[in-house]
Amino acid sequence: MKILVTGGAGFIGSHTVVELQQAGYDVVVLDNLCNSSEKSLKRVEAITGKQVPFYRADILDRNALETIFSEEHIDAVIHFAGLKAVPESVKKPWEYYENNIAGTLTLVDVMRKHNVKNIIFSSSATVYGTPAFVPITEACPKGQCTNPYGWTKSMLEQILTDIQKADPEWNVILLRYFNPIGAHPSGTMGENPNGIPNNLMPYITQVAVGKLRELNVFGNDYDTPDGTGVRDYIHVVDLAQGHVKALKKIEEKAGLKIYNLGTGVGYSVLDIVKNFEEASGVKIPYVIRERRPGDIDTCYADASLAREELGWEAGRGIQEMCRDAWRWQKNNPNGYEDAADA
Ligand code: NAD
Ligand code: WQD
Repeated sequence: MKILVTGGAGFIGSHTVVELQQAGYDVVVLDNLCNSSEKSLKRVEAITGKQVPFYRADILDRNALETIFSEEHIDAVIHFAGLKAVPESVKKPWEYYENNIAGTLTLVDVMRKHNVKNIIFSSSATVYGTPAFVPITEACPKGQCTNPYGWTKSMLEQILTDIQKADPEWNVILLRYFNPIGAHPSGTMGENPNGIPNNLMPYITQVAVGKLRELNVFGNDYDTPDGTGVRDYIHVVDLAQGHVKALKKIEEKAGLKIYNLGTGVGYSVLDIVKNFEEASGVKIPYVIRERRPGDIDTCYADASLAREELGWEAGRGIQEMCRDAWRWQKNNPNGYEDAADA
């Protein structure tokens, strides 16, 4: 089977390409590199020993998509390509709706013209808004998103659901990721954010490596055991393997399916700091700041549906997540920028 991975040079995409190639799938990557480096794909090749065919292209570019679908015999698409920075989406809503929604509509249109009707979509726990209950099952109602990024995910879920309903030849799997962190255990691939990180783990690793002075902990008066926000952190390799399991489901003609991909365990910000310090041996100075607008107190998954229906479970614990994130940052303080292998 040949899989087109959009956004395959990015953080989750590149780790997924490793797992797909190791599972024996043929992979083609499409990415416009707006938030990634092609060097990540060289690192993939070094791990798997296989070439990664790469198209530098935009999902908004219909002609480029036509070329790819004409040249390659694609069986299914894993669709990671999208913009994902929450604060940026508040400042540039048009750009987020255009890139994520118009881009996906273009991709899906070209797919159906070429009779490729299998798609796995990167959704997010953000679609639950302030969750009606925790642990969050897939039956938990979707909520009000607090930012345009979240709305693009929520709307795209609806769009893909309606497309599958109208044409049951489609197989659509919506994967709702919780908080992906960690890195490949080789230390050669990991998260490579532009500028100052928005997310907790890359911020911590950049403090640890001396690029940032101290961590800002956004609020310690939440209704949680230590007052800081609780999240379900999942190792990116576990998440990548979830996509391989979802592909197997697609091969069984899944119709429409929705799965949470998380561990089912919640950790607070201070838990993460403590675990990171233990895993790395590096002290993380922090200061308590105001709450960050739009944040919720607690968010963690009930991931039992993915276990039952996909046979998938996240096996890597928080120490492993911290250790792998640190190995990547320590070996590559400037991400892929200094890489000499490409
Ligand atoms: P990432 O930014 O590392 O990867 C996304 C990739 O898509 C990048 O390589 C970028 O260059 C590419 N891209 C963006 N717009 C494109 C376009 N128009 N055409 C072609 N390529 C384009 O992000 P990631 O963390 O790997 O996330 C992958 C997907 O998972 C995204 O859709 C994201 O919204 C979703 N997601 C991420 C998280 C998270 O916390 N990282 C959580 C839930 C969902
Ligand atoms: C985690 C916790 C912060 C940074 C975001 C998106 C979500 C999804 C995953 C894509 C919170 C606290 C953070 C910092 C801190 N992405 N924090 N200091 O907000 O759960 O989810 O990424 O779909 O849509 O919103 O992740 O890593 O930003 O924050 O104290 O410098 O760490 O307040 O409690 P979040 P995060």
